[in-house]
Order: sequence, then C-alpha cells, then structure tokens
Amino acid sequence: MTDIQQIRAEFPILSQTVHGKPLVYFDNGATSQKPKVVIDAIQHYYEQINANIHRGVHTLSQKATDAYELSRQKIQNHINATHAYEVIFTSGTTHSVNAIANGFASILKPGDEVLVSALEHHSNIVPWQMLCERTGAVLKVIPMNEQGELIQEKYKALLNDKTKIVAVNHISNALGTINPVKEMIALAHQVGAAVLIDGAQAVPHLKPDVQDLDCDFYVFSGHKMCGPTGVGILYGKECWLNRLPPYQGGGEMIATVSFEKTTYAGLPHKFEAGTPNIAGGIVLGVAVDYLNSVGFDTIQAYENTLLEYATEQLLQIEGLKIYGTAREKASVVSFNIDGIHPYDIGTIIDKKGIAVRTGHHCAQPIMDFYQIPGTVRASFAFYNTQQEIDYMIEAIQKARLMLL
Ligand code: ALA
Repeated sequence: MTDIQQIRAEFPILSQTVHGKPLVYFDNGATSQKPKVVIDAIQHYYEQINANIHRGVHTLSQKATDAYELSRQKIQNHINATHAYEVIFTSGTTHSVNAIANGFASILKPGDEVLVSALEHHSNIVPWQMLCERTGAVLKVIPMNEQGELIQEKYKALLNDKTKIVAVNHISNALGTINPVKEMIALAHQVGAAVLIDGAQAVPHLKPDVQDLDCDFYVFSGHKMCGPTGVGILYGKECWLNRLPPYQGGGEMIATVSFEKTTYAGLPHKFEAGTPNIAGGIVLGVAVDYLNSVGFDTIQAYENTLLEYATEQLLQIEGLKIYGTAREKASVVSFNIDGIHPYDIGTIIDKKGIAVRTGHHCAQPIMDFYQIPGTVRASFAFYNTQQEIDYMIEAIQKARLMLL
C-alpha cells in the first residue's frame, strides 16, 4: 500500500481510543468501517435530496430517483452485470437469499435436491431448509476437509438431475476459504441446476464478474464493503428474475392493481416492494467508487501480506491452532488456544482496544465439524497494519499467560 496512513486518515473511527487504547479494528468480517466520503454522502443525501423515488414529478423526487438509478448502474458496472435491471436493491445478503429461496418454492417438487456447502453462514442454510420443508425437496451438503476446503470430488458426486439449485459462498466468513466458484458453477450447470453465490465476504476483497462466473444469482451486503448497513444487492440473470415470482407484495412492484387481479412491474421493480433504503442505495454506489479508487489489486496484495504476517506470528504462540488453512484464503484468521475459551481471549483483548469476533460466527456446522464451541476470528481490511497485528499478538500472549 502506497500510503497506509493516508488511507487510515479517511476513516474517522480509526483514530478513536477504546478503554484508553488506540482502536485496533479486526472485526471487518462482521462489518467494515466507513470512509469519510461515505459518511458525508449520507449527510448530503438527507440535507440536500431526501425524497421518495420513482413516485413524484417534483424536482427532489427526480433528483433522488436519478441518484438511486445511477448507483444501480455503478453496481452493474462493478459486478459486470449485463443489464442494470438485473441489479435488485435489498436490505442485505439475508434478504437476497430469502427472496430467491422463496421464489424457488414455485419450482421445486418433492424429491428435488438443494445443495448447500458445509462452509455456509446460517443465512445461506436456513432459508434453503425452510424451502425444503415447504416443498418436500431434500437438502444435501457439500462436505469440507480439515483445511476448510470443499471436497470437489464429493461435490461432483452429489450433483444429479434432481439438483435444482446450488447455494455456496464465494468466501467463508468463519475460515476465509475462497471457494472455486467458477468451476463449481460450470459443474452445476452441466446438470441443469441454478447457482446462487453468497458474496457477502467476497465483495470487500475482490471484484466479482458475474458474467465471467456465469452465476445465476450473486448476493451481497453493502455494510461489509464500506457502505451503510441495511442495503444489499441481489444480482440475478434476467431469465431467472423473470421466471421467479416476487418475494414481497406492495407498492412499487406492481403494474396494475384491482381487487380482481394484480399484475407485476418489470425488473427490477418486481423485487423492490415498498419504499427502499434510498440513502443506503445511493451511498452504496459511493462506497463502490471509493473501493475502486483504492483499487482491488492493491487491496488484495496488501491484505495478503497482512494475512501471511498474522498467520506466521500467531503460529509462534504456544498451543495456538488456526482453523481454516485452505490454499486460497482471504484475510481472515480463526484460531483457538489450547485450554482457553475464545470468549475469554476476546474479552481480555477488548480491554486493550482490540476488536475481534468470538463465537460460532453464524456458522455452527463448521464449529461442529471441528468439535469446538467457537473461535477467535481476526478479519483484516486494507486499512489495517502490521503494527496492529504485532500489538494483537502481544495482547494475546499476555491473555494466554493470565488465563492458563
Ligand atoms: N456475517 C458476519 C460475520 O461473519 C456478521 O461476522
């Protein structure tokens, strides 16, 4: 990174102290921090153009609508979608997955199969389980190995003509594994299955190309990529979005309404019932611009150096085990120390101003696989530094001595 201090200065929250110590924010997998340009854009929206969109002929409504639709185009360009109307604004990844799982209720028959992976976040498991309960379809699971990689041979063996949809994450939130989604999508398509990629943990680290991946759906949240909470994206191929029924009924998603019959609006509005998070949608475009101005090549190269350094240093700590040692990994390190509960480490190092996540990370099946209650997870962003990692290592060493 050319000038890390300059980057850090763009994030006001990073200059605060916690328990009298400089904040070391290593919980980026839960949510990223926001640069000033994003914070300012939220304020600008409410001070200058707040109005409801797609509804009024008045000037403010037009301005807000234009800004919202411009943001949709920015996101279209960012993920290389063919059409802007394939980009649906949602409240986040969970909403996006639920919208698609709900839509598949109109397609699945008893005995059909839905494939998820052992590496999924609960939000990419539970909606599919609910779908299976509703339809009589069967949930199958792509298993993982000790390194936290999906076992591709077993995946291939699970695919068959009953498989209707495969839902898998691009990057595991708990372990950081980067899945070979392009290859997995091609294999699923060979049996005629659709594929949903949960990109929530990928979008802060890489720029997905939905046409190159050839995924049918790609979903993510704004808040993990320097944007606001409460806004996310559901990308779907036009043919799929036309085929699936709307998720919610209400204003905005209709063409005509009478008590006898309602007809639905075209894309993207069919999936955007109700007044959306207008500020969130507009500002997500600002966040995408910001990340592109830093550059994903720069972000990836820098985060890899942080990942390698943290991994090396953590492994020097006696009794420390890292969970998730896949060949392809994002800047996430999950670990435990023999004889110490992850929660205790998290609590002690918080007193030093260090924010990490502890627990099952909404991925209980992964914890069950390793037979552990949870892990300590440090997840790094491009505004973190090697010095912060040194400080965390020192804090963990001291915590270990206190707790053993
Ligand atoms: N899914 C988020 C995480 O991994 C909240 O922490």
